[in-house]
Amino acid sequence: MKPNPSNVSPISRKDVVKTGLAPEDRRVISEHLSEILEESYSLLVKTQIVHWNVRSGAFLSIHELTEKQYGELFAAIDVIAERILALGFHVPSKQGSVLSPTGFSVDPKSSADDMLELLASAHESCASRAREIAEEAEEKSDFVTHDLLTERIGAHEKAIWMLRAHKTQG
Ligand SMILES: [Fe+2]
Repeated sequence: MKPNPSNVSPISRKDVVKTGLAPEDRRVISEHLSEILEESYSLLVKTQIVHWNVRSGAFLSIHELTEKQYGELFAAIDVIAERILALGFHVPSKQGSVLSPTGFSVDPKSSADDMLELLASAHESCASRAREIAEEAEEKSDFVTHDLLTERIGAHEKAIWMLRAHKTQG
């Protein structure tokens, strides 16, 4: 996902956050966190579409798993957004800049295995991006963002395992 330099704006030009992070580093990390926010929202919407539409012999198990997963994503999105604010930037609020699901959409008529694989792939994408940004945050001494993203990687990897464990093939 390419960074959009206009995605975040500072809360205040005077009351800058002085905790040892360079202003430009705070901005860059906030930009990247806003991308993770958008991708996580997109995954949340996809997860709900599977929750509602999946048809399978394991319906109840997938229905309950996806409900748990979109709940976890909802909580995580709040943590990511509040980290952007703590870094001194507004959470992107332009119409569509956060709530626009990106990437492949879920066909509500596709097979349960295809739906599960689509979600697992989306989690892989989120985890890979979080890993890149976690490394960058650590390089810039933003250990708080690094820890937050490390937790996100673990949550995505667990979700991938559980989704694929419900597949009947492959
Ligand atoms: Fe539900």
